[in-house]
Amino acid sequence: MREIQDIFNLMAKINQSLGEFIIENQSEFKYSSGELSRLINSIRLAAKVVNHKVNKAGLVDILGTAGNNNIQGEDQQKLDVFANEVFINTLTNREIVCGIASEEEDDFITIKGRNQKNDNKYVVLMDPLDGSSNIDVNVSVGTIFSIFRRITPSGTPVTIDDFLQPGINQVAAGYIVYGTSTMIVYTTGHGVNGFTLNPAIGTYYLSHPNMKIPQDGHIYSVNEGNYVHFPQGVKDYIKYCQKEEEDRPYTSRYIGSLVSDFHRNMIKGGIYIYPNTSKDPNGKLRLLYECNPMAMLAEQAGGKASNGFESILKIQPTSLHQRVPFFCGSTKMVEKAEEFMQKHNNTRE
Ligand code: AHG
Ligand code: MN
Ligand code: MN
Repeated sequence: MREIQDIFNLMAKINQSLGEFIIENQSEFKYSSGELSRLINSIRLAAKVVNHKVNKAGLVDILGTAGNNNIQGEDQQKLDVFANEVFINTLTNREIVCGIASEEEDDFITIKGRNQKNDNKYVVLMDPLDGSSNIDVNVSVGTIFSIFRRITPSGTPVTIDDFLQPGINQVAAGYIVYGTSTMIVYTTGHGVNGFTLNPAIGTYYLSHPNMKIPQDGHIYSVNEGNYVHFPQGVKDYIKYCQKEEEDRPYTSRYIGSLVSDFHRNMIKGGIYIYPNTSKDPNGKLRLLYECNPMAMLAEQAGGKASNGFESILKIQPTSLHQRVPFFCGSTKMVEKAEEFMQKHNNTRE
């Protein structure tokens, strides 16, 4: 009898929709809960619109480059531009967000709110479309978001200081993976939960409650094509991963979409590395749009994120599009990689 009840309870949990979950858990949030719920709701809505477009890629004119570069000199894809517009429009038309910073925008956007009073409380930083290089070849892409409370006084326009906060101040962070199924995975500082979209009815259901990264793993994810440019610490760590000893060699898996690589490693256990290289002394990934939110998710799931020397979440940002070396995933693997980095003390070789 008890067993049957347990099964019913489990089914009830699995069938909980994201909307229901947000309402049920909003009291855990230490600030005004309704606002953050509305903010997560608007991200959920934007993600459905982007998902719809991603699913039709190949059928509608959405593949290929948009013909311009973003501020970081990267080719903007049509889907980069589309996703950026959808998220900005969805977040702007609600009285919650006072500013948005995006990988695809030169500068941050100020939002006055419907009453023109600049009294909304949250800033959102995002990578609207992560893994652009995979769009044209039907491989998973994603969206990454990071949410802070503003630090400047309500009633005044946001300033750069509202965006340049260390990751430890994030009040929520998450990603959407447009994969074989579409999922939203997010945290508000009380663990990590994953929701899968049922495309037939357009509803996300709690499919991965209380996600935890295995403490140790057997997968390392790094673009080994750049090996010759890696610092000696990363070269040595890769050789360690490949050595036939104890539970090694590990498996190498690299999709080239941070969201998908992180998602796999979170479920199976693993480490994702995008180090500094001799070509890019700060690496490639962006602290504010990619590394901070993934670091919060990793830590909330019991994992770790570092630049090889210190916690990502403790870094004080100095500019919007700042890049940072990134080592993220299972705690034991990240600590081992840090050990190699620190042995050589090679931030820039
Ligand atoms: P974006 O598409 O937002 O520019 O991000 C791409 C990032 C990240 O998703 C991925 O892991 C990494 O760049 C891949 O870079 P390489 O092609 O240099 O390996
Ligand atoms: Mn990205
Ligand atoms: Mn991007």
